[in-house]
Amino acid sequence: MNQSLCEKNYSYSKQTIDDEDVQAVLSVLQSDWLTQGPSVQEFEQHLAEKFGSRRVTAVCNGTAALHLMGLALGWKPGDIVITSPLTFLASANCILYAGATPDFVDIDPHTYTIDVDRLETRVKEHQAQGRTVKAVVAVDYAGHPCDWKALHQLAQRYEFQLVDDAAHSMGARYEGDSIGSSRFADCTMFSFHPVKHVTTGEGGAILTNSLEIDESVKRLRTHGVTKDESRLQRNDGPWYYEMQELGFNYRITDLQCALGVSQLKKLERFVEKRQAIAQYYDAAFESDDRMTVPQVASNVSHVYHLYPLRIHFERLSISKQDLFRKLREKRISCQVHYIPVHFQPYYQQQFGFREGDYPIAERIYRQEVSIPVYPQLESEDLDYISTTIRRVLEG
Ligand SMILES: Cc1ncc(COP(=O)(O)O)c(C=O)c1O
Repeated sequence: MNQSLCEKNYSYSKQTIDDEDVQAVLSVLQSDWLTQGPSVQEFEQHLAEKFGSRRVTAVCNGTAALHLMGLALGWKPGDIVITSPLTFLASANCILYAGATPDFVDIDPHTYTIDVDRLETRVKEHQAQGRTVKAVVAVDYAGHPCDWKALHQLAQRYEFQLVDDAAHSMGARYEGDSIGSSRFADCTMFSFHPVKHVTTGEGGAILTNSLEIDESVKRLRTHGVTKDESRLQRNDGPWYYEMQELGFNYRITDLQCALGVSQLKKLERFVEKRQAIAQYYDAAFESDDRMTVPQVASNVSHVYHLYPLRIHFERLSISKQDLFRKLREKRISCQVHYIPVHFQPYYQQQFGFREGDYPIAERIYRQEVSIPVYPQLESEDLDYISTTIRRVLEG
């Protein structure tokens, strides 16, 4: 049912589900397999084909994907793993799950992705003090790919592993390569949370060109169990399996994977719509000196999981809190991405991080407002949202 403009509520992002998606889930509900059935492999195959990755493992959420990647890559106590401070907690928490030590490197002030020069300086500092940087979890913030070629060069020079946290960047390209092809990273993770480009309700995937990593995450997804005869220490018969390492139940259901297959067909359309919305906002806001619109490097395509508008509250009489309150009164619910991870009491208490450690991420946090971007928004909605933002800022 079409809602009139004055009845609509706008959030920063949300899923787009159509009848084909509903039918796909219904048909699994009426089948023999609700979980551990054929839809899981089908979804994995579709992901592999679409993004040009040799192997894919689908799991119950993106955080589980990051957790298993860290274990498969062999992170252990004493290893240092670096990520961006301007990300969701999961990008850093996966380092802790493996017992490794987290560190952060500040972001590039234009793309908001990890700053490669600062990363090199930090890796050298660790090495000079005899510490091993085992890996870097680089986050394609908001859907803008990191500088993957430069990261890859550093990874080779300093011998660290590279993980692409691509929770925001499904459908994006770096110099023509699909994010997810793992051309530069050892492995890539996607999230299928409803605010992401493609949803399975909850869900995640690990994409890699390494058979070893893939086999490891597949075992860890199901309790660390193997039925592979070549790996068994003995074999009692066709029912026999062995647990040779400690794994988890991180499986995704067939219901979710059927939804994923159906959603994946619409990815290009969803991405184009998000890019068109971003173009609209760019035109509406780029000449307004109270704000800075997202910048896009010339060698990438940005897929706008978020539209991170920076508002220069330091020069305005309105506070960020008041802007949020007033926009909510007008049915526009924005978000902030992100509270820097090193601000979290847990990270401060356990590892001694402090406010002031990563000034660029902290500045972006103070200024950033994620305004609505999702495929159902039409030009009348965008007009309402952009006009309302400007009016509220005028006071
Ligand atoms: C950058 C980033 N990494 C990882 C995750 C974790 O994904 P999930 O919510 O599917 O566990 C998210 C989720 O929002 C995210 O934004």
